[in-house]
Order: sequence, then structure tokens, then C-alpha cells
Amino acid sequence: MSHAGMPHRPRLLIARRIFPEVLERLRTHFELRVNEADAAWSADELIAALQDCDAVFVTTGERIDAALLAACPRLRAVCSMAVGYNNIDLEACTRAGVLVSNAPDVLTETTADLGFALMLAAARRMSEAERWLRRGEWQRWSVEQFCGQDVHGATLGILGMGRIGQAIARRGALGFGMRVIYHNRSRLPAAQEAPLGARWVSKLELLREADHLVLVLPYSPASHHAVGAAELAQMKPGATLTNIARGGIVDDAALAEALRGGRITAAGLDVFEGEPALHPALLELPNVVLTPHIGSASRPTRLAMANLAADNLIAAFTGGPPPTALNPQVLPLR
Ligand code: GLV
Repeated sequence: MSHAGMPHRPRLLIARRIFPEVLERLRTHFELRVNEADAAWSADELIAALQDCDAVFVTTGERIDAALLAACPRLRAVCSMAVGYNNIDLEACTRAGVLVSNAPDVLTETTADLGFALMLAAARRMSEAERWLRRGEWQRWSVEQFCGQDVHGATLGILGMGRIGQAIARRGALGFGMRVIYHNRSRLPAAQEAPLGARWVSKLELLREADHLVLVLPYSPASHHAVGAAELAQMKPGATLTNIARGGIVDDAALAEALRGGRITAAGLDVFEGEPALHPALLELPNVVLTPHIGSASRPTRLAMANLAADNLIAAFTGGPPPTALNPQVLPLR
């Protein structure tokens, strides 16, 4: 559809339903196609919807790979409102001259809040206690009822010490008096470690020493099952495990086994292998707190994430620098 007096606008597919105010911003620059039904499209459905589109606004769910790029030759930009971009083959996009952007920073504190909440809930058996209460089982108060683990003063272990890992460390060190240890491929500069009292340790030491282990590393083939049966077997008895990173970083079957056997005491999980499906054993176990991938889900943060994806799209097509491009070397757009 061409508007009188308006140059032809690029066509943008919005792969999931987003906030109306962000759509309105985008509508002034793009001809929009929107997944009004908010369906989780299959690869073929996404390719079909993308025909004749110049750009796509994605979330964590849409897979952008070489096959899709080959089937959508007009595509020039893939802008995600997520920080993690393991659903996007960045190298293939760069080879095809397709811009990719993600949405870092704006979700750091909100996601750290959820990680901390899950850790607390797991350690203090909150979901388990609430389910029991809702079942009408509370007849009397007793001394050992739902005794869990302390969080304050305990050792917080962080695997992956990027922005979100550091925000969790800050909460633990400054708010809860925790001793913070972490493992990361690269050690933080001393000036960043010092205010957190954070100490770099080997992965084995992290597993063995943490009372509460939180996973905040990006997913890649290298981090697939970074925590599996062997790693769980190294964890401190009584420890908890929290995963707010990505499904697949933990071997969920091995985790269910470790929780069932009491090898670790509890888990807080926001992400799952094969989500939205869950390993059935996780649903049966009392000592696991489950949330449906809501790490960044506060309204202001989700809005900021969507606006950042929009900023990248608008800049890419109007000649400005996209603020959080992952492969700015492809600019200007084809
Ligand atoms: C959510 O999981 C994200 O990567 O933003």
C-alpha cells in the first residue's frame, strides 16, 4: 500500500504481538505486518509470513537460520527485543549482509530481581509451602515445618558474570551479606570485582563451594548441559540451583534426578529444555520453584526492550547508528 506523498516504506514483520505504543512508533517508518493472533509460528509459517519483508522484529522464540535467510532474500534486518540471541545464527546473518540487534542493559535489573526471587523462594521452600497451605494441610504450626536454607550470609555462586550476573552479585553482597564467588571464561577487572567482594574461582570450586548457585550464562553449543549429572554430583549437599539463563544449559533430566535424590535441596527455574514443554519429573517434584520464562517480565522493562528493538529498526532504515547492533559491519543496509 503506498501513501500519497510518502516514499515507499520498508515492510516490517512483527513476529509476536507487542505493545500498541511501540507499533505506533514503528508504523510511521514501516509498512507493518503483525502476528495479530500472537501464534508461535513454525519455521515454515515464519518463512511464509516473511516473504517480501525487509525486516523482522523477533523475540526469543523465532529461529533465524541460514535456511530462513535463503528463503527470505529480501530480509535486511533482524531486530530482537531479547538480550539472548541463541535463536539467531549471527554468522549466517552477517554473511548474508543482514543486520542483527539484541536488547541488552534495559532488562538487567529486572532479570536479576527474578533470579534473586527464585533463589530465595527455592531456599525457603516458598512454593512448596504455599501448595501445601492451599491444599488445606495446615493444621498447626510446628518447629520444623518447612525449614529451608538461609540465603543471607551464605555463599552465592554465579556461573556467567555478565551484566545480569553482576547485578545478582550486587544484590547478594550488598543486600544479603553473601560471600560471592563466580566462574566466567574471562575474569572481571579487579575494579569490578572489588565492590562486590567477588572472587573468581574454577568451575569445580564454584560447584563445590556455592550454597546457592545461579546460572546466568548465554546459551551456545559450548554451554549445552554446562550443568549435568557430573556437575550436580559436585555440588554441596543442601545447595540450591537457580537457572534464569536458557533451557539446555541444565540437563533437566539429571536435575530432576538430583532433586529427587536430595543431592541438591531445591531449584528455581525460569527456563527449560524444550520449553514451553517441561520435563514431567520437574512438575512432580515438591522442591522446585517454576516460572514460565518471565525473567524480564515487568511492564516497564518489557516496554523498554520493545522500544530498544524499535530504535534499532528505525535507525537501521533511516541511516542512524542502531544502538545495539551485533554486527554493525553490515551497515549501511543493502
Ligand atoms: C530473554 O530470555 C532474553 O534473552 O531477553
